[in-house]
Amino acid sequence: MKSIYLLISLLIFVCPAQASPVRAVGDFALIDHQGVFHQLSQYSDYQAVVLYSYSSKGDATSGAVDKLSFLQDKYEGRNIAFMMVDATLGETRARVAESLGRHRDDIPVLMDTSQLVSYSLKIDRTGEVLVIDPIRMQLLYRGAIDSRAVAAVKKTSDSISRNYLDEVLSAVTLNGPEVPDVLWEGGQSISFEDLTSELSVSYASDVVPILEQRCVSCHRDGGVAPWSMDSHQMVSGWSEMMRETLLTMRMPPGQIDDTYLDNFTDVHSISDSEKRTLVSWIDSGAEIGGSDDPLTRLEAQASGWALGEPDLIVEFPAQEIPATGALDYKFIPVEIGLDRDRWVRAYAFDIGDKSVLHHVVAYTQDSKQQKQNSSGGGSRTNFGGYAPGRDYVEFDDNTGVLLEEDMRFMVQFHYTTVGRPVTDVTRIGLYFQDEEPEFPLSRTAIMNGEFVIPPGDSDFDVMARATIVKDSYLYNIAPHMHYRGKRVKYWAEYPDGTREDILSIPNFQHNWQMIYRLKQPKLLPAGTVIVSEGAFDNSANNALNPDPSQEVRWGDQVWDEMFIAWMRVSELK
Ligand code: HEC
Repeated sequence: MKSIYLLISLLIFVCPAQASPVRAVGDFALIDHQGVFHQLSQYSDYQAVVLYSYSSKGDATSGAVDKLSFLQDKYEGRNIAFMMVDATLGETRARVAESLGRHRDDIPVLMDTSQLVSYSLKIDRTGEVLVIDPIRMQLLYRGAIDSRAVAAVKKTSDSISRNYLDEVLSAVTLNGPEVPDVLWEGGQSISFEDLTSELSVSYASDVVPILEQRCVSCHRDGGVAPWSMDSHQMVSGWSEMMRETLLTMRMPPGQIDDTYLDNFTDVHSISDSEKRTLVSWIDSGAEIGGSDDPLTRLEAQASGWALGEPDLIVEFPAQEIPATGALDYKFIPVEIGLDRDRWVRAYAFDIGDKSVLHHVVAYTQDSKQQKQNSSGGGSRTNFGGYAPGRDYVEFDDNTGVLLEEDMRFMVQFHYTTVGRPVTDVTRIGLYFQDEEPEFPLSRTAIMNGEFVIPPGDSDFDVMARATIVKDSYLYNIAPHMHYRGKRVKYWAEYPDGTREDILSIPNFQHNWQMIYRLKQPKLLPAGTVIVSEGAFDNSANNALNPDPSQEVRWGDQVWDEMFIAWMRVSELK
């Protein structure tokens, strides 16, 4: 034992840090100037990712875009990804698009609005280029794009005429020798302000309030997340992972494109400045800085009903979940037991065991639908469901859903196994209102069931359209795709020919089947077409993909796909 320690310490001693500067690159994700999500690790089937530090105001950068575009053409088909990153505080996508001129569709400009990615990559000047090996997550080159740019900075003539970036890419694609970094001192320096300032972030008064607002609803005892932010010790232990989930935009989950944030309520999000605070705190050692730990005073989530005692509780029959194996969807009819028609203003789920219950959907069937005896649940109407992070739904004021006296639930369960047998007893709680609401809600769907996703395709586009027949208010949208769902957005095409973007989820995550609820219902005149455009990732890069070699079509099972969104609307009388 002792000798191993000795050996390790010797190794450390004989391999001093000066051997090579740190070349490791952490994973990150950003949205580009056209609203598209990019994550470094999703380029792992590429030989290299080129990342150029851009600024719409830069004189150093304008000629460089021509150059990058030229190289992009030159290396087409060789799996080199070209991107730019813009860390200018307050920069907008529109300004960047404008500044790109004819190149606006050529090379994505990652909008590093929090600056955290550039800061982590130590990109502190515009005009620098990084070449990253996305498999080993290492820098292959950083520095000047070519000798002309260096000469321009030094105000000398370009006597050596070298195309450094081209040389690096040629070395990468032909397995040539490494090209050493060439120091870049041109461009403009990027100011990171509070990220580098000596002002230390306070755990108790800066960090905890952000965690409470953005994370703790799930990361607490009884919450849906697997660990609780219930002490400094816990949070500091997880801090490096927290940093990673923030830089890859994985937490908080189900984030929508920030551009649409103001129109929606109850969506998970985190602002740039909050992210900066958390990451600065983590980078400076995640210290408690005192003895007060407000997180230890947080109360556990009260078990039971999120909205208080329901007017009616419907208990679903107990389900026995085996220890192992893949389970088919189950459909179970459940009597509701109403003595008259009722208007529902909210519903909530009390899940028996969240570790096994992946999702549940309560459909309704009136007496006519109940008589149609078909397999797989039969004819049914989607009433509402539970998915992780979505325990309850309260409908908007003056709205509600009608449950008719003769209806029953047809409940669809999807369970996963966890290595031990589990009995799950899940209940739905219904909250009624006496009066018929002014705006009764109905469901409409926008879907496309005709697609065939080829094996291995990493970005298979799908579109769907739905026409609104009568003047209606739109209240919410619930997108639904399975494991290969990658992104989706929605816009309205109005009868007068105008178009309005409604929502974009640039990084759809199957685990998070959210309902996106508009702050103000949106009036859709008769004849409006809601258009949905999205994509599937059927490649091996998609960590959730059960089998990239399959051709995939519409189907109920999670290894099939769906492209659908349910919308709650109210038709005007
Ligand atoms: C809506 C619920 C929810 C919110 C809000 C949420 N998390 Fe999570 N978090 C989860 C769940 C569930 C997991 C388990 C992994 C998964 O399902 O993706 C998780 C996992 C994690 C992990 C472990 C990493 C991993 O790979 O599993 C970290 C770190 C984390 N969350 C950090 C945060 C931070 C930081 C915030 C707030 C900025 C936050 N979470 C907000 C639900 C949530």
